[in-house]
Amino acid sequence: MASTHGDGSRPAIDSSVPHPARRYNYWLGGKDHFAADRASGDEIEKKFPGMRTGVRANRDVLGRMVHYLAADAGIRQFLDIGTGLPTADNTHEVAQRVAPDCRVVYVDNDPMVMTHAQALLKSTPAGRTTYLEADLRDPSAILSDPDLKATLALDEPVALMLVAILHFIPGTGAAQPLVRELLDALPAGSYLAATHFTTDFMTPAEQARYREMLAAGRSDVWPRDHAEFGALFDGLEMVDPGVALATEWRPREGADRPDPRLIGILAAVGRKP
Ligand SMILES: C[S@@+](CC[C@H](N)C(=O)[O-])C[C@H]1O[C@@H](n2cnc3c(N)ncnc32)[C@H](O)[C@@H]1O
Repeated sequence: MASTHGDGSRPAIDSSVPHPARRYNYWLGGKDHFAADRASGDEIEKKFPGMRTGVRANRDVLGRMVHYLAADAGIRQFLDIGTGLPTADNTHEVAQRVAPDCRVVYVDNDPMVMTHAQALLKSTPAGRTTYLEADLRDPSAILSDPDLKATLALDEPVALMLVAILHFIPGTGAAQPLVRELLDALPAGSYLAATHFTTDFMTPAEQARYREMLAAGRSDVWPRDHAEFGALFDGLEMVDPGVALATEWRPREGADRPDPRLIGILAAVGRKP
């Protein structure tokens, strides 16, 4: 079942402050956002007009990754941290279309995602889904949660999904220890599937403008380059094609291949040997 943490109380939703989940929902064309989320989304988009294309590409590669993991890698357990507001093709829907017995634990720190948890908990009868309100910055709380343990067998392979969330952990080198701690708790044969915002494909002038926005607190999305993102997979066997632009990670035949500058999202999947 869905649960909360700490003293059991749930933080109130502050609609005056933009939140990544709601802003992402706005860019994806969803209905779950407030004025502050739209204003923040519009400001970022005004400066970086590719934003919506990138967001769409991220959502699409999430679906392809889950499909690969369930259909090709035989994964039946998913730990999806940074769930986002439910939209089409949530992780459990894609996975359970391949194998109805797939089990998924969703984790997010946005109380608004919690209010939509019912949609995420609609599992096939053969599978199971659970939603935890918890924070990526506290991996041990996630891993020791009784609801997680009741849903996933941590002695069997798990796909750790960190899709468009690690860029909310600011600071060079700050994401690595969190990823390590989570992967260390998973057995051989587990996978890491992640995507990440990057400014690698921007012009130097755009990169400078983006750094200014970050420094002024007008964006909370911390970019990482190919090398730092790739290092999150150190020690894993990379699934072909390795670290790639989201649209280039195992694209469907005939899929659009927009200008990389409009995407700005790196994607990769690796297997723990
Ligand atoms: C951009 S959405 C990505 C949703 C989904 N993974 C996808 O790629 O379509 C990022 C999600 O991460 C969540 N998030 C951000 N920082 C987090 C943290 N420290 N702990 C847990 N969730 C977090 C946000 O609330 C949001 O729902």
